[in-house]
Amino acid sequence: MSDALDAAGPQAAWIARLWWISLWLCVAVFIGVMAALAWALWRARRAAATGDPGGNAPPGKDRALRVLVGSATLLSSVLLVGLLEVSVLTDRGLARLPRGDALSIRVTAHQWWWEMVYEDDRADHVFATANELVIPVGRPVVVTLEADDVIHSFWVPNLHGKKDLIPGRSTTIEFRADRAGRFVGRCAEFCGLQHAFMAYDVVALPPDRYAQWADHERAAAPEPRAADAVRGRELFLTGSCMLCHAVQGTSAQGRRGPDLTHFASRSHIGAGSIANSPQALARWIEDPQKLKPGANMPSHFLPADDLAALVAYLETLT
Ligand code: CUA
Repeated sequence: MSDALDAAGPQAAWIARLWWISLWLCVAVFIGVMAALAWALWRARRAAATGDPGGNAPPGKDRALRVLVGSATLLSSVLLVGLLEVSVLTDRGLARLPRGDALSIRVTAHQWWWEMVYEDDRADHVFATANELVIPVGRPVVVTLEADDVIHSFWVPNLHGKKDLIPGRSTTIEFRADRAGRFVGRCAEFCGLQHAFMAYDVVALPPDRYAQWADHERAAAPEPRAADAVRGRELFLTGSCMLCHAVQGTSAQGRRGPDLTHFASRSHIGAGSIANSPQALARWIEDPQKLKPGANMPSHFLPADDLAALVAYLETLT
């Protein structure tokens, strides 16, 4: 799990700086206010003990108090204006990311998963993946955000702040990862029953490894060789799977659910619901409603050998 304040790019660094300045300033103000309160209480108790209501303070002391309150008010105003200035500078910093040579990705939020389409001028270079955003280190990324059903929010704390995805409206968010790593992405806007299981990984790879990964993603799914995997593909293409899922290189071109062309290489099933393993996959195919109640994928109680064949096929989709 990555620390949300451990910035991996310039956008997140700006936001983290604003957070730390605000935090320490507010801590200092809080301590000052509490100290003043303690002092006032102590004075009130002393006044009660000596029977002096404090109403007849000598004129010199009265003036000193007025100067003290005046200075505190002035200091508060200066600090507030200072915080405003730091926020404005942060906003400017966020808008200054150079976007030459940017990688363009379209992210569509669905209840409850993420569709990532890597755009390219060449139609045969476009590819889709799900619940995993792989990006090259050092290159700006422009993500176009869209929503299919309700409002969701795109949030990768290590790279940038939050941005809503609104049905019928396209927005963009830009960021850059300056070091390799795996970062946590979350939906940050309540979007229904499975809002908590609408997670994705952002994997930042060195440019050459990213290029390898993208080449692999563009390629069609490998041909299954083992007999059970071949039978599994048959089941996939003749059953209901292909109505919702696509596997490039086959007749399955469904768009309602995640593209499964390279499904076996992903870390999780069901947008962060469970770690990806053959056993978990079998449980998921059988009864997704048990693992992720409300998800759009229906349960499929298949004969054991059919289920095993289907799992064997999906495991070949590396
Ligand atoms: Cu999507 Cu919360």
